[in-house]
Amino acid sequence: MNFEFTEEQLMIRQAARDYAQRELIIDVLERDEKMIYPARHIKNLAELGFLGMLVDSRYDGGGMDTISYVLAMEEISKVDASVSVIMSVNNSLVCYGIQEYGTEEQKEKYLKPLARGEKIGAFLLSEPEAGSDATSQKTTAEDKGDYYLLNGTKNWITNGNTAGTYLVVAQTHPELRHRGINVFIVDRHSPGISVGPHEDKMGMRSSDTHSVMFNDVKVPKENRIGEDGFGFKFAMKTLEGGRIGIAAQALGIAAGAYERAVQYAKERKAFGTEIANHQAIAFKLADMAVKIENARNLCLKAAWLKDNHKPFGVASAMAKLYAADIAMEVTTEAVQIHGGYGYVKEYHVERLMREAKLTQIYEGTSEIQKIVISRDVLK
Ligand code: CAA
Repeated sequence: MNFEFTEEQLMIRQAARDYAQRELIIDVLERDEKMIYPARHIKNLAELGFLGMLVDSRYDGGGMDTISYVLAMEEISKVDASVSVIMSVNNSLVCYGIQEYGTEEQKEKYLKPLARGEKIGAFLLSEPEAGSDATSQKTTAEDKGDYYLLNGTKNWITNGNTAGTYLVVAQTHPELRHRGINVFIVDRHSPGISVGPHEDKMGMRSSDTHSVMFNDVKVPKENRIGEDGFGFKFAMKTLEGGRIGIAAQALGIAAGAYERAVQYAKERKAFGTEIANHQAIAFKLADMAVKIENARNLCLKAAWLKDNHKPFGVASAMAKLYAADIAMEVTTEAVQIHGGYGYVKEYHVERLMREAKLTQIYEGTSEIQKIVISRDVLK
């Protein structure tokens, strides 16, 4: 078993680290407070090739492996998870889904601009009454011969307003339940689409999250991905990869808070010495280090399985479940180590704690990951 990274993987990690530590850090607090979309950073990350990392170079992507993607996601998330969620949805849900299951025409027309980061993608699965219970889609896609007619509402959509390309999951044959669901590539500016206000979120406040409403939106037949009724399987398969990205995001949030806690503990003095010299603090740091290392190993294992074309759905669920849960624990401890300073924005750890919470909720709650894992245990 080889635990060493390749030269290329190390270079990608370093590039992501440099960008995060030099650029993202500058305005992350202001963007969080005022919910400012990180447009400049997304443009820069596109130029660095981080928006289409996993896409084959034939379709203008970076042709990088999933291990590199995990390394980059960790580094970006140490500083700003609002930026890394935009990167994650574009890479591992939208680009991956089209690359894996789209036609050549769909790849030429839609994947290439997404891989170059000229357009951003959004994945529209969740609905007001279909979050965890994803089979209960109420959005309809009526087959009208040459085109489908979309009607319904999607909720909590990352990149909901800024995306140029939507992947929309909708029900075509309600009597077939999940086997009647389809997924469509939809131009965000199609007539009949309206977008709700930017959600005022607890964390990841500068990524744009919106409701999206479809009112008699015409979608050309050729924009359906896969066979009629493939949409639910498409969503499940795509989310398996998406969960590696969010696991790596949670890992990065934890690691970012931990690094700040270590630094603070070495500088801050109490009872006549640096607080790192008190076992109450040193033991907390040891526990945090072990949890982060475990989460990193789970992320890399899931990525390795995916890169080697082995089943990775359970591994990605385990990575996401564990990394999200320890992100909450580690960030909470980082706030505790900082004491009163941890509770004010300037020290970043309270923001990281708010960001960590979302990783237990989106792309499948922690409970959803336990469904996936326990079904495998009990099969
Ligand atoms: N791969 C392929 N097929 C799969 C699959 C997988 N991983 N998981 C399920 N399926 C198939 C099953 O085989 C079954 O198909 P058949 O009936 O044809 O055999 C079908 O899907 C239904 O499966 P289940 O009976 O297991 O379905 P379920 O209702 O019990 O639900 C679930 C399974 C795992 C709970 C699923 O609903 C789920 O993952 N829910 C969470 C949804 C989610 O993650 N939402 C996140 C939104 S996206 C987001 O957050 C992006 C963002 O903006 C950041």
